[in-house]
Amino acid sequence: MTAASELARNTLVHGRGGTLTISEIERDGRIGIKLVFEDTGPGIPDIEKALQDGFSTAKSMGLGLGGARRLVNEFDISSTVDVGTKVSIVQWKRR
Ligand SMILES: Nc1ncnc2c1ncn2[C@@H]1O[C@H](COP(=O)(O)OP(=O)(O)OP(=O)(O)O)[C@@H](O)[C@H]1O
Ligand SMILES: [Mg+2]
Repeated sequence: MTAASELARNTLVHGRGGTLTISEIERDGRIGIKLVFEDTGPGIPDIEKALQDGFSTAKSMGLGLGGARRLVNEFDISSTVDVGTKVSIVQWKRR
């Protein structure tokens, strides 16, 4: 929930709005939930920097992206300047 709300907030605030696609997935007999956040905003020039705690271009805390990555089982981000940003996360159901 926290990762989802942080990423949704980034999509709105930095990405100027976008979409969230939620799906149930199965791999190796395990069930998980996958969330994909996509926007057509300004993009992120330096993803490594954006993931660092304390880095913010919005004078905020700069904890959302790195915090979200730490909270989930799988985290994937791709971004192109002037095109947009896509962040995918997966959380597996506990057995
Ligand atoms: N969807 C996005 N589009 C463009 N830039 C983004 C996006 N998501 C994150 N960023 C960039 O990465 C930086 C770090 O994101 P992060 O969520 O860690 O911090 P924040 O949103 O600035 O502050 P916080 O989430 O702590 O309130 C942002 O300041 C912004 O520059
Ligand atoms: Mg944020």
